[in-house]
Amino acid sequence: MCFKYQDEEFFAEGVSLKKLAQEVGTPFYCYSSDKLTRNFQSYQQALKEFNSTVCYSVKANPNLGVLSTLARQGCGADVVSAGEMYVALKAGVPADKIVFSGVGKTQEELTQAIKNQILQINAESVAEVETINRIAIDLGLKANVALRVNPDVDALTHVKITTGKKENKFGVDWDDALPLYRAAARMPGIRLVGIAVHIGSQLLDLQPFRFAFTKIAQMVRTLEQEGIVLDNIDLGGGLGINYNVELPPTCEAYAAVVRETLGDLNKHIIVEPGRSIVGNMGILVTRVLYTKQMGEKNFIIVDAGMNDLVRPAMYDAWHTILPVQRRGVAPIIADVVGPICESGDVFAKDRIIEPVQQGELLAIMCAGAYGAAMSSIYNFRPLVPEVMVHGDNFCVVRRRTSYEEMLSGHCVPQWL
Ligand code: LLP
Repeated sequence: MCFKYQDEEFFAEGVSLKKLAQEVGTPFYCYSSDKLTRNFQSYQQALKEFNSTVCYSVKANPNLGVLSTLARQGCGADVVSAGEMYVALKAGVPADKIVFSGVGKTQEELTQAIKNQILQINAESVAEVETINRIAIDLGLKANVALRVNPDVDALTHVKITTGKKENKFGVDWDDALPLYRAAARMPGIRLVGIAVHIGSQLLDLQPFRFAFTKIAQMVRTLEQEGIVLDNIDLGGGLGINYNVELPPTCEAYAAVVRETLGDLNKHIIVEPGRSIVGNMGILVTRVLYTKQMGEKNFIIVDAGMNDLVRPAMYDAWHTILPVQRRGVAPIIADVVGPICESGDVFAKDRIIEPVQQGELLAIMCAGAYGAAMSSIYNFRPLVPEVMVHGDNFCVVRRRTSYEEMLSGHCVPQWL
């Protein structure tokens, strides 16, 4: 266990969270490098029978320390902006292990990707394919392109993170994919290298993957009959994690679906996991500012807010909250809320939780994915530190933003 109690005090690997809080102040994110590495290795291990590349989805957590840890293990990257491509390259991910996804890539971003000769650009529309072709011709290069197809499969997950249905904005419509492949095969700036699919996030059932991958296999066979032979099949990300009482499929079970649906095609398999690599390797540590009772209700007011971790406010997401010092006293029912001036700034409603005192610490669990990544300076609050632990060691892999840094791009108009 990477986060665990030792004599009723919560530790990250061998590091006391109380000590870390003294060192860096609160709130802060804390990441376990051991858990991170093991999550990546689970994928590698499960997929080892295939020629495969794990391209970690940088959007889940773009921290340089996180990415460098993964890159050192041989991990690739799935990026959705030139910014993410920049961080991935800085972290040491080789260009030939980078895939570029996203429904709205700019010409500048595509130019960067083509110049860097990345593994593949997952194009999502006719217009994007034509744009890539034009840019590549101008550069005197060929772009490695895959089409992200929309298989019209319901991922059975939260509506805001479902991406593989016909009505979602993502991918090339299933019926348009074949004609677009034919057209792209004739474009001089395009080297057709693959097919890509991503149906959603936090999937707890393998059946939608099975449906989608089966459709992909059919498409790959149809294309081969037409002489369009692809190297790569990119299966996207989406494997869920356990936030509360969920039972997500294991990497082995996922790999079994890949074998069953695509095994005999002998292609290079790319996967783009985000949440399942970084979700449970990170927690958000926050300090109790005040407690108060209003009528029947107990409130625990903490110094982290929805700007630091937006998932509960945005998706009604559950994050388990644990006291850093456990006392074993009878629990109460309370709302754990942040200081932001919005009633949505709630981490937990009517939660059964040990009573805590002013000044004590709480750990908000499973916050490594889409936590720091989606944070903002709303209410002009600094971005919080991110700390990575490694055994008894720790490193501040991003320090708290200063007010000067927050103001650095601002200016007062010259007419004042
Ligand atoms: N590939 C593509 C093309 C994606 O759009 C995504 C996530 C992934 C891979 C990684 O998916 P994962 O393995 O992490 O499920 N902010 C939301 C999640 C948004 C996911 C967006 N796309 C949340 O906090 O739940």
